[in-house]
Amino acid sequence: MKTDVLLGLQWGDEGKGKIVDYLANKYEVVARFQGGPNAGHTIIIDGKKFILHQIPSGIFRKEIMNIIGNGVVLDPITFKKEIEKLEAAGIEPRDNLFISQRAQLILPTHRMLDQAWETLKGKNKIGSTLKGIGPTYQDKIARLGLRVGDILDASFQQKYEALKASHLKHLSDIGFADEPDESPFFEAVEFMKQFTITETEYLLNDQLNKGSKILAEGAQGSLLDIDFGSYPFVTSSNTTVAGACAGLGIPPNTIGEVFGIFKAYCTRVGSGPFPTELFDETGEKIRKSGAEFGATTGRPRRCGWLDLPALKYAIMVNGISRLFMMKADVLSGFDKILVATSYKLQDGTITDRVPFDHHLATPIYKELPGWDIPIDEMTDESSLPVELRDYVNYLEQELATPITVLSVGPDRSQTIIREEIFV
Ligand code: IMP
Repeated sequence: MKTDVLLGLQWGDEGKGKIVDYLANKYEVVARFQGGPNAGHTIIIDGKKFILHQIPSGIFRKEIMNIIGNGVVLDPITFKKEIEKLEAAGIEPRDNLFISQRAQLILPTHRMLDQAWETLKGKNKIGSTLKGIGPTYQDKIARLGLRVGDILDASFQQKYEALKASHLKHLSDIGFADEPDESPFFEAVEFMKQFTITETEYLLNDQLNKGSKILAEGAQGSLLDIDFGSYPFVTSSNTTVAGACAGLGIPPNTIGEVFGIFKAYCTRVGSGPFPTELFDETGEKIRKSGAEFGATTGRPRRCGWLDLPALKYAIMVNGISRLFMMKADVLSGFDKILVATSYKLQDGTITDRVPFDHHLATPIYKELPGWDIPIDEMTDESSLPVELRDYVNYLEQELATPITVLSVGPDRSQTIIREEIFV
């Protein structure tokens, strides 16, 4: 069978957790392929809120196999905390969670490096979540990193000490002389040994060969991709579709649907270009009604109107086959809705392509009428205000991709299915 991929198309926080949870029972396997504890997938089940950082969102269903793939950078401390929270809520994740032995380990000193490098960048800081993501991927590419499989080896302590020493030497050279607090790390490493650490690339391909359907759960968003995002204000992994193959060990010809999630407006946390950002009370209103505060860091998110050139770019590089539009309910109560349809560049050129200097692009907007009734209890499309239906139809036409699902609230039940995917 095939692997369907679910990706955020903006700067993360599109609502992937809710959609993976909605889709999960259609799949035998849910797999994370990149990122790590920088992600925060919020899932609300029967009014109870869960935030998953590293664990795949299929974990709430016992019959689903959940995989942390080789492309992930895994922090044992966060892993232990997440598992303990799930267990306290009555979820048993031990039998259906599998960790790639090739996933990279985030060490306490990776977090220290993240903090130190961000501090040194001053006003040019990326706005990293400071979870050690960048330094861990850097060690992976430099062929210095430690992998989850290493914790099972007798030489682990020795390898750990060598890498730690090189991190501390570098930290001291750049003026940061702290010692890491290691005991929570080693406790968490012991804890992780109770789980299945294995060759997940074989597990996944065996599942494909026997006809199982896999859902690859993306983290962050396409505009934070290390290659296609607004570099250097990006994360350190490929958040786009190709990342699923490299981060799981599955071939491209096994990819089926590529689902793209976007919000009815845009948000961004951290620094970097955001042409449609709003600095006025409209932005504040979106932030408030959309509860736009980071699930991982609690930081207020920057808010702005939908950016069609950026969304089209993400659809293009990912080959998106279906769109899921999130948080339409947040736009209730606005007189008008703006959508950027193109950009004016510094030399006066008008373009609908994302330029290399994204930060110098001035958006050109189309104005659409808003609606003022709440929609969060509406369960079918025909009851939605005509202005919202027109907005959705307009977007669908512009993006040349079907909008299959419209989300009108955070709960599983607040989801309008415009077209059944699995018939
Ligand atoms: P890092 O991945 O923690 O190094 O952060 C790099 C950039 O990506 C920063 O601007 C972060 O705010 C952003 N970022 C990382 N993970 C997420 C996420 O899951 N959602 C939204 N933004 C993220």
